[in-house]
Amino acid sequence: MRRFWIDTDTASDDAVAILMALRWPDVQVEGISVVAGNVHVEMGAKNARYTVELSGKKTPVYLGAARPLVRESVWGYFFHGDDGMGNMNYPEPKLPLAKGRAVDALIQAVRASPGKLTLITIGPLTNIALALKTASDIVEKIPMCYIMGGAAATLGNVTPAAEFNIYVDPEAAKIVFHSGLPILMVGWEHCRGAANLVEEEISHVRSLKTPYADFAIDCNAHAIATNQNWLGEPCLALPDPVTMAIALDPSICTKRGKHYVDVEVTSELTRGMTVVDQLGVTKQDANIEVCWAIDAVRWKEMLYKTLQ
Ligand code: RIB
Ligand code: CA
Repeated sequence: MRRFWIDTDTASDDAVAILMALRWPDVQVEGISVVAGNVHVEMGAKNARYTVELSGKKTPVYLGAARPLVRESVWGYFFHGDDGMGNMNYPEPKLPLAKGRAVDALIQAVRASPGKLTLITIGPLTNIALALKTASDIVEKIPMCYIMGGAAATLGNVTPAAEFNIYVDPEAAKIVFHSGLPILMVGWEHCRGAANLVEEEISHVRSLKTPYADFAIDCNAHAIATNQNWLGEPCLALPDPVTMAIALDPSICTKRGKHYVDVEVTSELTRGMTVVDQLGVTKQDANIEVCWAIDAVRWKEMLYKTLQ
């Protein structure tokens, strides 16, 4: 069994990504750490526990950072709905919050299984930065970290320069990107356009007629409506599930390259920009891998498979 740890600001797309991992046959999700981002951390933890309960698992969900390292909080309610889950107002899950701080639980889990725990981050990187600052030894104990975040040499979704997860806590992202952690950065650019579910594909998910398929669309209802108003098309961007698909099957990322990447933390205009040195002009050593292309057809096939 492959073992995963998921760090998330659980709203609607996070929930689908978490469900994919929980339902993947050869993956055991050791723990889920929640961070403030799309929604307040307590709400994110409720959404994560609800998702775990739907999957029939008992994966521990830990409460993490309630705000970025130094910045004011930025929320995503406008996109995901007041509860982060399409205003479905799901009931309080029976699965209790796991005891202890998320950062301590993550450190403990990594130290207990050196080289065995793959880290997937699908929210702002506050918890990860805190864990690295508290226990720098975990860098060499984490075999791989898949990060949904950033925008490699392309436009962002919060500002023209920055993607939400990095924008919310750019200082945390800078710490993580320069920590030596083996990272594959999956940027926002791979999670829209051809990667989106269009109306027919949304209907196809519905046609699966399983609690998982219905949940995936129901909790993203507000996101679909927002896209309709924003982009003029009823489609669904699922950035966290795209990244989870790559963690589950790295060949979904069809083009990758190791580059020097830094994060803007001073300019307000480009706050949170992931600056990728594709041509090596900074003469800095490459620090992370960047995903440059994905197989959108296969990503969707994986999604459908986990919602059957
Ligand atoms: O920019 C998209 C990312 O920001 C996704 O992880 C979404 O859930 C939000 O956290
Ligand atoms: Ca997220």
